[in-house]
Amino acid sequence: MSDKSAVHHVYDGIEEHDNVLPNWWLGILWTTLVFSFGYWFYYHVAEMGPGQLGEYQQESAEAASKVADSKPLSDETLLAMVKDDQATASGRQLFQQNCASCHGAEGQGLIGPNLTDNAWLHGGKPVEIHKTISEGAVAKGMPAWERTLGPTRVRTLTAYVLTLKGRNLPGKPPQGEPEQ
Ligand code: HEC
Repeated sequence: MSDKSAVHHVYDGIEEHDNVLPNWWLGILWTTLVFSFGYWFYYHVAEMGPGQLGEYQQESAEAASKVADSKPLSDETLLAMVKDDQATASGRQLFQQNCASCHGAEGQGLIGPNLTDNAWLHGGKPVEIHKTISEGAVAKGMPAWERTLGPTRVRTLTAYVLTLKGRNLPGKPPQGEPEQ
């Protein structure tokens, strides 16, 4: 070893050499550098993967909806979901993806009725709204969503629609019966 490397210091009989770093060591160094760059890019720059917080929120929302699903469907269980910010936030997201094209981004109505007013074609009680979303009014152009989105998302969407109720945004004029 000592013949390949120049001696840097000699002190008290102890020699310090300028050794070439071994390849296995350099290999690990470069692997960690490349990995950390990729990690940083994936999670923090491009935000392609959910971070730790995102994963936590996703998992706790799933756990919460499993608990919610095991409860029987009633006005009370649906109204309880309205108070759950995480449920209504994911409901809002689902609404933007699946419903906004017909009901407007804020639920003010477009092709489909205004969901922020007091008038309902199919009833404004939580379980009635759930039924409309789940089974649709297919002949009138409202798809049945339980088939495509599944029961959890239909409940989440119902909770979100209940938050729109009574906002009375200007949009499509009221249709149906005013709720008592
Ligand atoms: C293709 C257009 C379309 C899409 C997409 C759509 N709807 Fe509808 N929706 C309608 C129409 C049209 C009606 C009115 C049906 C009728 O006249 O009986 C309606 C009615 C409703 C009603 C009942 C309103 C009342 O007055 O009783 C609710 C609640 C509702 N939709 C929620 C949703 C939700 C939530 C989604 C997304 C998962 C959604 N809709 C997606 C067209 C749509």
